[in-house]
Amino acid sequence: MSLKRRAAREGCGRAKNMTKENTDSFFKVNGGASLKGEVAVSGSKNASLPILAAAVLTDGEVVLHNVPSLRDIRTMKLVLEELGVKITGENSTLIVNSKDISKYETPFELMNKMRASIYVMGPLLARFGKARVALPGGCAIGSRPVDFHLLGLEKMGAKLSIEHGFIEAACDRLKGARIYLDFPSVGATANLMMAGLLADGVTTIENAAEEPHIQDLAWFLKSIGGRINGAGTKTVTIHGVAKLHGAVHTMIPDQIEAGTFMLAAAITRGSVSVTGVQLKDLRPIIVKLLEAGVQVKESKNEVKVTAKKKIKPLRIITLPHPGFPTDMQPQMLALMATADGVSIIKETVWENRFMHVPEFLRMGADVKLEGNSCVISGVSQLKGSKVIATDLRAGAALVIAGIGADNTTTVYDIEHIERGYENFETKLRGLGADITRSES
Ligand code: EPZ
Repeated sequence: MSLKRRAAREGCGRAKNMTKENTDSFFKVNGGASLKGEVAVSGSKNASLPILAAAVLTDGEVVLHNVPSLRDIRTMKLVLEELGVKITGENSTLIVNSKDISKYETPFELMNKMRASIYVMGPLLARFGKARVALPGGCAIGSRPVDFHLLGLEKMGAKLSIEHGFIEAACDRLKGARIYLDFPSVGATANLMMAGLLADGVTTIENAAEEPHIQDLAWFLKSIGGRINGAGTKTVTIHGVAKLHGAVHTMIPDQIEAGTFMLAAAITRGSVSVTGVQLKDLRPIIVKLLEAGVQVKESKNEVKVTAKKKIKPLRIITLPHPGFPTDMQPQMLALMATADGVSIIKETVWENRFMHVPEFLRMGADVKLEGNSCVISGVSQLKGSKVIATDLRAGAALVIAGIGADNTTTVYDIEHIERGYENFETKLRGLGADITRSES
């Protein structure tokens, strides 16, 4: 189904401020630095979120390493604690015990903070046969419906109703089913994989998402005793089992954090080694950087990006993995803003992920929006300005653009950035950026 049709079907609720939190922190970036040095990538946010939720599937103890310390992870911990899950641990290790779950409901306040809270639905239904989850609203990048999650769970025998803004779901025991996703949704694939783990029989998800975090989720599900084949391909098969156990798991490195630092090196015409990466996950980003004339040196678990003054313009289409990731689109736009010629970026995953364009215009970029695409005519340098982080990746893109710009860029609403980047400003400072975090 086309983006337009999906948006029309859902009424395309833009609800820009739904996720906005009422704090006044901002980043002040004095531009002009060429980033240099080495930066280590944290664990993957988008793997940690479903894996934390998947711990609900078992009464055994789950030890998770390399969990990033982020706002979204803290929200997921609150969601789980609300259910009765005990979470301890320090630094990047969390010990999760779901033995004494006593509630089956995700409150509106948490759901509204983070849509990934929907991830508890599949595990709760699979293990306890009931779940009550506040209906997620829209957010800045699109209406973000959850119909694929619900259609899949219904196919597996769950009885669903929507009452007073909550999705109520119940079943005796989920049954294996053959499910085709209209679009390879990451969230629906993850939720249905988790639901299938304790179902009766075989669940097949066709046109499944293939993202690295889906593969990591599958590794975790296998480690607790699940039987899954094909994760990371278009067809995932899950053979339901009667009981699962505890396990120890280490999260994969964050693909998008790595990509953001690679782009930060290119935008500031610097030279940065990004360490602790999974090179195969970075292929679409590496290919585009090479096409732009940026030097990329790959070695084991490390990628070194070095950029000269001249950046060639690009044509980019965002697509589900292994296509170019939508979560790197704003950072790529920031690079193209100072490329030597005209670039085109087409967004095909989210219907409203160009909210950052007006912010880049404030910085002197020459960008024209045409439906789902934007045309970027490179300028010689961006100008430091006051801008707003319209969402997580847009915020990160504006910060790294600010490092490459002249004068001072102030980025407001940085709570968005802190949802998904661990110690962002500290890591950037380590590479030579002049960036400070302040509260007004
Ligand atoms: C995940 O969101 C990521 N979030 C997003 O990353 C990422 O942009 C997105 O996948 C695409 O890669 C997490 O992993 C926590 P989808 P998700 O379901 O699962 C439509 C970031 O910056 N759709 O793959 O919510 C939907 O509207 C964040 O880290 C339906 O129509 O995305 C969208 O157009 C932002 N019905 C498309 O599919 C559904 O039931 C892809 O959504 C579900 C989705």
